[in-house]
Amino acid sequence: MSELIRFGVSLEKVLLQKFDKHIKKENYANRSNAIADLIRDKLIRQEWTEDKEVAGAIIMVFDHHKRDLVNNLTNIQHDYHKYIISSQHIHLDHDNCFEIVVVKGKPHKLEELANKLKSAKGVKHASLSLATTGKEV
Ligand code: NI
Repeated sequence: MSELIRFGVSLEKVLLQKFDKHIKKENYANRSNAIADLIRDKLIRQEWTEDKEVAGAIIMVFDHHKRDLVNNLTNIQHDYHKYIISSQHIHLDHDNCFEIVVVKGKPHKLEELANKLKSAKGVKHASLSLATTGKEV
C-alpha cells in the first residue's frame, strides 16, 4: 500500500447523511474506505472507456434444451478464446444452466464477446461485470 494522505472534504449535510446511511448499509468501517472504493470504482469505469487491458466476468443463464444453443455458445467462446481466462458451468436445475466466463483484454473485444453471447437465441440472461486487472488502481 502506498503512503496515506489526509485531506479535508466539504459536503452538503444532507448528502453526507445519505452517504453515511449508504456506507452503514454496505458495512464500511469508516468513510475513508468507502470514499477510496468510490474513487477506485470510478477509475475502473474510466479504464473501460480507454484502450487499456481490463478484466471482467460474463454471467449467463440459459436453457440447455434449446436447439443448437450450447453449440452456438461454445463456438462463440472459441472465437474469443484468447480473451477467456476460465469458465464455469453450473447446472441450476433440470433445464437451466448458469455459466460464468472470466475475461481479460481490451474493453471493446470483451464487450463484443458479451454482446454476442447475450444475443444468442435462448439466452435468458447475460451481463458483463466490469472489473480491473488491478494494475492501475
Ligand atoms: Ni448445464
